[in-house]
Amino acid sequence: MSEDPRRVGVIIVAAGSGVRLGRGMPKALVRCAGRTLLELSLDGVRASAVAGHIRVVVPPGDTELRAIIDAYPSGVTIAAVDGGSSRPESVRAGLAALPADVDIVLVHDAARALTPPHVFHSVVAAVRGGAAAVVPGIAVSDTIKVVDGNTVTATPDRATLRAVQTPQGFDAATLHAAHAAVRDHGSVTDDAMLVESLGTPVTLAPGDPLAFKVTTPLDLMLAEAIVLQARAQAQEDQ
Ligand code: C5P
Repeated sequence: MSEDPRRVGVIIVAAGSGVRLGRGMPKALVRCAGRTLLELSLDGVRASAVAGHIRVVVPPGDTELRAIIDAYPSGVTIAAVDGGSSRPESVRAGLAALPADVDIVLVHDAARALTPPHVFHSVVAAVRGGAAAVVPGIAVSDTIKVVDGNTVTATPDRATLRAVQTPQGFDAATLHAAHAAVRDHGSVTDDAMLVESLGTPVTLAPGDPLAFKVTTPLDLMLAEAIVLQARAQAQEDQ
């Protein structure tokens, strides 16, 4: 597989409504220490320098995210694409907008705005190393219960669980096949699930706690504190 970043595409999915954050706007537009979550996500992709193509999937009819994307100095090809009503539909729209000669596709949640470059590097390296699908993951600190309503039905061994993040990386043909094969998108929350349902192995790569998904107001407070602290540190280092 080519080492050329021009053969790598990143799809940033940002077409969600952000209802749980409660700001009345798409989550990717929400500001965190003065920058939108989308800009912070793009900063991470740019810093990683893994990809030659970025496609950002935005809510249909959006103009504000599009304006940010048009103005963003990514140094690579970048374009906005209209999303769909579910995450898999949004990913499919992003896939269709990538050049045909891309052989590695990363799918990244805009909401994981502080994902460090090393996560991108590990995921791409694992795909280049022969994995068809790669997910970054971290150990879970909570005990996780399986429930039926409010009755606990099982307690999986915590040592066997990983909280999975993005970017998830795929051999492009595998991701295309997975999206083409799966019809019922009802409970699909990530792309690896689609690949798993084909019976194709999915490989784990090291994730990072900083790749957490900004979902709730508490997550946003944490993200803000992290960005401000990193900024203060950078100033001190100058
Ligand atoms: O809803 P959830 O937090 O799982 O969404 C994960 C990511 O998928 C978010 O970045 C969101 O913007 C994106 N998404 C999308 N299109 C949808 C629903 C979610 O791009 N229809």
